[in-house]
Formats: sequence, structure tokens, C-alpha cells
Amino acid sequence: MTARSRSIVSRQTGPHEDLSRRVVRALTNPLRKPIAEHTREAFAWARDWLDNRDGAPLILDAGCGVGLSTRRLAEQHPATAVIGVDRSADRLARDHGRLPDNALLVRADLIDFWRLALAEGWRPARHFLLYPNPYPKTAHLKMRWQGHPVLPVILALGGRLELRSNWRLYVEEFALAVTQATGVAAAAAPFTPGEACLTPFEQKYHASGQALWRLVVELPHDPGLVPGDPQPGVGEGK
Ligand SMILES: C[S@@+](CC[C@H](N)C(=O)[O-])C[C@H]1O[C@@H](n2cnc3c(N)ncnc32)[C@H](O)[C@@H]1O
Repeated sequence: MTARSRSIVSRQTGPHEDLSRRVVRALTNPLRKPIAEHTREAFAWARDWLDNRDGAPLILDAGCGVGLSTRRLAEQHPATAVIGVDRSADRLARDHGRLPDNALLVRADLIDFWRLALAEGWRPARHFLLYPNPYPKTAHLKMRWQGHPVLPVILALGGRLELRSNWRLYVEEFALAVTQATGVAAAAAPFTPGEACLTPFEQKYHASGQALWRLVVELPHDPGLVPGDPQPGVGEGK
């Protein structure tokens, strides 16, 4: 990682004008994408692992990249069970030493993994979205988590949800979407990492002198946020 990471460049100067409409759409139109078999298998593996953690509170590290944050969270919170999820086999395969016993890295698509987790009744105590891909092009709002049809599922899981980004607008948009969808007040706040950064992206942005932003919000577990059947495809054996 170099200390010359570029700041986000976007034509957007404020929250996307379509954000509110996208959130309404996510809250009213069921997400019909079929769940991939490999994520179903990965989830079953994670569920079995979690079932053997004696009811330890769950921390989800969504989009964990190489899994450093998963390791660090597990070390910081030894009485919890920390599951890091990423779709990149390449990132997950990088060797960062032995995983703590209370940590698990899973290769899966979050869009499916989150839905399976909600259907299974998971209630993460904490849920991290650390430096998600920003998709700064205006046309890519629907790929940001706040503009994505899976947003209600992320929120419905509940717990202490923490988003971090080097793009202030991403966090501001996410805050607007959280409040619109749940009625819970949320705001972006500047953030300075302590001595040890939690993730490689945090490290490189911080070392480049970029401002970092975060949102922390406590949400109720509320599967009713998800439109239609909150368990698409579950039990169909596909
Ligand atoms: C910008 S990187 C940040 C990684 C890590 N959190 C960090 O801060 O170093 C975003 C990560 O999200 C993962 N990701 C993006 N969309 C995903 C999805 N639908 N399912 C699983 N992982 C996803 C990418 O593979 C990538 O590792």
C-alpha cells in the first residue's frame, strides 16, 4: 500500500437526487435475484461454525477484503464470533497469519449472504461496512449500498451498524437512506483512526492524509422492513 491514494472524484456535489426514490423502491419491490448455490453452501458452513460458538454475540464484517479487520475485531472482542464476508477469493486468500479461533472468513456474495442471514434469524450485535466500493459515478447510485435493492435487508438485520468511507457523500447518502427507511436518526461524522487502522483501505487513505467519515447507528432487528417474502429461495433447495 502506498501513501499516495487518490481522493474520490465525482460529479456529485450533494446527495444523489434519485436516492429517496431508490430507497422507496427497495422498500416496496422484493429483491428477486436467485441465491447462488455457492453462497448457500458458504452460508451453511458459516451457520454451522456459528452454531458451535456457544451463543457468542455475532459481529459481521461485510466486504472484509483481505480479512485484517475480521482478525482485529476478533482479537479486540474475544467473547464474540466475527464473520468476515467477501466475494473476492483472491483477497481472502492472502496470507495474514493464523485466524483467531473466534473469526471466520467466508467467500460469498453479500447480496445473497445477507438475505440468508436474515432468513436464519441472525441478529448481529455489530455489523461493519468498512470502505465499501464507492461507485462515484452518478449513474452508479444503484450499486452503492444505499441505492441497492438489498438495503432493507442490511438494515433489517439490526444491531450496531458502522459504515466507514473516505467519501463523505457516500456516508451522508447512507445516513439519509437509513433514516428514510427506519426512522432512526443517523449522520455522517468525521473519523480519525486510532494508532492501528482497522483495514488496509483505512490505512492507505489515512496515510495519504485523506479525511475519513463514518456513521454509527443502533438499529432494531426488523425483518418487516423487507418487502414481500423476506426469505427468497430459502428452502427451495436451488
Ligand atoms: C474497497 S474494498 C474494502 C475492503 C476492506 N473492507 C478494507 O477496508 O480494506 C471493498 C470490498 O468489498 C467487496 N465486495 C464488494 N461487493 C461485494 C459483494 N456483493 N459481496 C461480497 N463482497 C463484496 C470487494 O470484493 C472488496 O474486497
